[in-house]
Amino acid sequence: MIKSKIAGIGRYLPKTIVTNDDLSKVMDTSDEWIRERTGIQERRHAIKHKETSTTMGTAAAKIAIERAGITAEDIDFIIFATLSPDYYFPGCGVLLQRELGITKTEIGALDIRNQCSGFIYGLSVADQFVKSGMYKNVLLVGAEMHSMGMDFSNKGRNVSVIFGDGAGAVVIQPTQEENKGVLNTKLHSDGTYAEKLAFISPGSHGGYHADKMGADTDFGFEKDKPFASIFGTQKMLDDDHFFPDMEGKFVFKLAVTKFPEVINEGLKDAELTTADIDMFIPHQANLRISQFVQKSMGLRDDQVYNNIMKYGNTTAASIPIAMCEAWEQGKIKDGDLVCLAAFGSGFTWGSALLRW
Ligand code: UT7
Repeated sequence: MIKSKIAGIGRYLPKTIVTNDDLSKVMDTSDEWIRERTGIQERRHAIKHKETSTTMGTAAAKIAIERAGITAEDIDFIIFATLSPDYYFPGCGVLLQRELGITKTEIGALDIRNQCSGFIYGLSVADQFVKSGMYKNVLLVGAEMHSMGMDFSNKGRNVSVIFGDGAGAVVIQPTQEENKGVLNTKLHSDGTYAEKLAFISPGSHGGYHADKMGADTDFGFEKDKPFASIFGTQKMLDDDHFFPDMEGKFVFKLAVTKFPEVINEGLKDAELTTADIDMFIPHQANLRISQFVQKSMGLRDDQVYNNIMKYGNTTAASIPIAMCEAWEQGKIKDGDLVCLAAFGSGFTWGSALLRW
């Protein structure tokens, strides 16, 4: 039976380290508050106007491609997961294709907008393509440049202290080896609470989003206003909705329920238990969430990998970065049962079980 396996993995973290103390110089926060509630000690910020989600994704992809023992021209499909794309459109998939110099083969490129669960959703898509025999070298990238789109004033401090920049990438190939490959992926979503963790402007709501600002029937252009497009009305600017909003406590409570649920769903389907897991890599949302999930699932410390302390929450990039780092440190070995899980904005969540 054909399964899909991770044949190469890479990561890229920008050089600039931003500590909690650095943040406390621009907003009312403290190292103590951030550490206590999130476990984060520092995060990375990319170089503005030089680095982007695409350039970071490209750097990680190059390493993954080299480690897979192939060249960029061998890639036959690209999947790019990010919530912080370089452009409103086109997506980062084609920009990455160009950066990698994949010009001759005219392969397909797909962009995934699933925020924190983007990598798991992307892995699931890649898995189906590879298992079906459609593609042999799928490049899956998760990359984020949050630092360019956050509010570093007091108003945005509950969000901007958490998120960081970075990228991770994997090359997915077919395998017939018995003790290797993706066993299953489980995907879920619930749009009921879409605005509980959201970045709603600019958007085609044009500044009149019913949930956030009250319904409005004025669909006309705004006379004598600098912005009169659905992608940037004066009302949007006035209402200051160009930053992410999060109801942290609400997200926290749902996350600690959904993580174990979706992990157990995958384990049950594969007829395995938590005792079989060699390495659990949770999406790095908040160290307290990971610890809560670890405890509720009865996992030992050596069965879980966390690096949010150094990088913050890098959304779609957090799982591939952590998985790459754990593998580089020898904490994931051939044949190990690796469990991945994520929960985030949408809400969307998912899990993946794979033999390394
Ligand atoms: O990838 C998935 C995405 N997100 C998550 O998983 C986030 C899940 N939620 C969380 O991690 C936590 O809810 C946070 C860490 C975001 C916030 O912790 P909290 O204990 O839920 O704090 P809170 O939002 O209830 O705020 C408590 C207080 C408030 O002050 P008052 O109203 O009690 O005076 C906030 O204004 O802390 C204040 N606060 C801060 N103080 C210092 C909010 N952000 C900060 C800050 N520094 N950065």
